[in-house]
Amino acid sequence: MHLAVIGCGYVGLVTGACLAEAGHDVVCADVDAARIAQLNAGIVPIYEQYLDKVLVSAREAGKISFTADAGEAIRCSDAIFICVGTPPKENGDADLSAIDNVARQIATEARSCKLVIEKSTVPARTGLALRQALTAYSRGSGLTFRVVSNPEFLREGTAVEDFFHPDRIVVGVEDESAAEMREIYRPILEHKFRCPVHQDSCGSAPSAQLLVTTVNSAELIKHASNSFLALKISYANVVADLCEKIGADVEEVTHAMGLDPRIGGQFLRAGLGFGGFCFPKDLQAFVHLAGTVGIDFEILKAAERVNKQRIDRFVDKVHQALWVVKGKRLAILGLAFKAGTDDIRFSPALDVAQRMLAEGAEVHATDPVALSRAKAVLPQLTYHDDPYEALHNAEAALICTEWNGFRDLDWQRAGKRMARRLVIDGRNLCSPAHMRDLDFEYFSFGRELVGASLAHAAH
Ligand code: UGA
Repeated sequence: MHLAVIGCGYVGLVTGACLAEAGHDVVCADVDAARIAQLNAGIVPIYEQYLDKVLVSAREAGKISFTADAGEAIRCSDAIFICVGTPPKENGDADLSAIDNVARQIATEARSCKLVIEKSTVPARTGLALRQALTAYSRGSGLTFRVVSNPEFLREGTAVEDFFHPDRIVVGVEDESAAEMREIYRPILEHKFRCPVHQDSCGSAPSAQLLVTTVNSAELIKHASNSFLALKISYANVVADLCEKIGADVEEVTHAMGLDPRIGGQFLRAGLGFGGFCFPKDLQAFVHLAGTVGIDFEILKAAERVNKQRIDRFVDKVHQALWVVKGKRLAILGLAFKAGTDDIRFSPALDVAQRMLAEGAEVHATDPVALSRAKAVLPQLTYHDDPYEALHNAEAALICTEWNGFRDLDWQRAGKRMARRLVIDGRNLCSPAHMRDLDFEYFSFGRELVGASLAHAAH
């Protein structure tokens, strides 16, 4: 099929590239002409594993193109995926102005009827509003537009794998559009694609189910899923705080909890909490949406509150370990909001860095892929590609992102470079026993404190 993808951010680019790799003819459009120029020059503007490979393959097959002219993309396609940003407004509600703009473009640029697929994460009932907007903006043209909600469940860092091996594909429809959606996803549903992640080793067994729902349900499924996962993380974080007070080990507790299939072991990792462009804003938008219909989503408000307090809890540990922060050289390991991505939006690591700067620390930072993005927003830090350089003369290492590379550092070598063998681990990445063997003082969340006798009694 001929498909257009409007918006070349994390979602749009992965969606466009993977649909092209699956055999469709895809035109991706974005208002950011510089980004389009990069893409046309073969430069991938974001870090996402396997995306470069998929884009090269789709370009070579002549299946994907990029344009700054959304009208061109709209006119030449049967179906249009809307993948533009929906950032939070001051009041927690989602800002839907980019979707409204795209609706106006579709209505005015289209020369034939189109299937319009809402993929951006939006509050419930946006699909219905989108259809009304398309009708209003195209009045007199004789064209009709059908709207489908097709929420994405891609995780940054594993988005390509998630696209080709989804748990479920949800399509919310108001009419007979499910058949076209099934056609779009047929290569995935029937496993008729060359898997860029596993090559041939993932077999050919169809994995995903296509779930057909109403538009409102589809929108709610996305919000309810993300908010539940965020709730799970905050729950684990409070359990971790309790473990510290009671003298239990959060890893032991959450591991055993997760063996119960009703609970499941994922998203129970305690630490600095959730960041990124999805969970914080989706949680807020869901609470706001519930409020607008008179439902007080108290447990989600609590999850949000707990998450905000994670930074305070981490800074408390820094004080406990270092006493005075002012004038001390600190190494921040990790700037991305999670491992596997260069995305620093709403990254807890940046909050930590800012707090340390505000207290007068000399902050050195490293990250495998997020340095250039971080430099643009926090020029006051000193950046290092090499983690051992960041750790040189540092009085403490603050682990803020769960990159495996930080767990697997040669900590003996790191310790020799550091002014003090002290690690404050915001992601429970290292093993307390290992750090003890290497003679480190080691603080983490909900686990044994190593070298506690050196910590300041005030806490
Ligand atoms: C999330 C969802 O997982 C995706 O299904 C969804 O499609 C996406 O949002 C979206 O709405 O676009 P993502 O934001 O890429 O994906 O990242 P996650 O892997 O969910 O992690 C979110 C945050 O939670 C990260 O900061 C991570 O460090 C933190 N986290 C995750 C924990 O603190 N503990 C955990 O156990 C798991």
